[in-house]
Amino acid sequence: MTLRAILAGTGSALPRTRVSNAELAERVDTSDEWIVERTGIRFRHIAEPDETTATLGAEAARQALAAAGLQPSDIGLIIVATATPDNTFPASATKVQALIGAPDCIAFDVAAVCSGFLYAVSVADSMLRTGAAKHALVIGSETFSRILDWEDRTTCVLFGDGAGAVVLSAEEVADDRGILATRLHAEGKYCDMLYVDGGPSTTGTVGHVRMQGREVFRHAVTNLADVLGEVMEDVGLSATDIDWVVPHQANKRIIDATAKKLGLPAERVVLTVDQHANTSAASVPLALDLAVRDGRIRRGDLVVLEAMGGGFTWGAAVLRV
Ligand code: ACO
Repeated sequence: MTLRAILAGTGSALPRTRVSNAELAERVDTSDEWIVERTGIRFRHIAEPDETTATLGAEAARQALAAAGLQPSDIGLIIVATATPDNTFPASATKVQALIGAPDCIAFDVAAVCSGFLYAVSVADSMLRTGAAKHALVIGSETFSRILDWEDRTTCVLFGDGAGAVVLSAEEVADDRGILATRLHAEGKYCDMLYVDGGPSTTGTVGHVRMQGREVFRHAVTNLADVLGEVMEDVGLSATDIDWVVPHQANKRIIDATAKKLGLPAERVVLTVDQHANTSAASVPLALDLAVRDGRIRRGDLVVLEAMGGGFTWGAAVLRV
């Protein structure tokens, strides 16, 4: 028997308001054609003032708990991956804890931008396997619309808001179920290629997203293909063993190029970027939840998660559902 972190349930939440490319083009100098051709994005959800990173995260968490058949009181660890917390502090994880009514437990945020969910999963996996908790809520939740410069068409068309959550449970298993491997990377020397130009310790303001799109694109394809190769090697499996890849939903062209580099057919890649745009740390758990709920991802499937974001940071995880 082996102690592993098992995927026990998934959930997600999207803001009420959905904005099409055509609607966006009414207030930004862009077009549906340009956005679809360069990114594959057609819609994004934008949070209303009463919808925040914590409220969206709490809704996703409630769904994941229900899917796992657990109560908030069963949870011993809450990690929220976000770059857009409700407040500089306290951590959004503690706000989610209060909103769902979970009693005293471990709760903190992880900041690794778009790869934040992969970082959070990896930390939760380690903590569950060393006995820190029996059940963990791992949430990716973002309200990127609040840090976009709506005058900058090169960035504001790319992002959306939302949240995704999973319950991971420590279980003794006799088979290869659960998280089998995770790999994380960061290279801070590229921190000026994708960043927010503000913060508590510098400008004292929240700031806006700034990005060198072409450079990000180039690094993303290479780094993601490499890290996917690493985790598959860790578990001694090859691309043909993968049932589903759930990639970070930044850009359809990055997803297609990465899949092609690995020889993965498009039918095995979960794609939601057309409906949600880039929801940063929320994108992987959101896509995972949709594919679980519509019956594509089933018990026994080998699933690979991957993401890259500002920092640069990037990572991947392999799990048997
Ligand atoms: N609408 C219309 N035209 C636009 C827009 C827009 N929204 N944005 C830029 N343009 C114009 C530019 O001004 C430029 O015009 P010019 O040729 O007259 O100067 C032209 O389109 C081409 O601009 P580029 O920036 O060279 O376009 P590119 O083909 O590189 O596509 C894009 C830009 C989509 C941002 C691409 O570089 C990309 O996807 N990069 C990856 C970035 C990404 O996904 N980041 C997300 C976070 S990181 C991550 O999650 C991995």
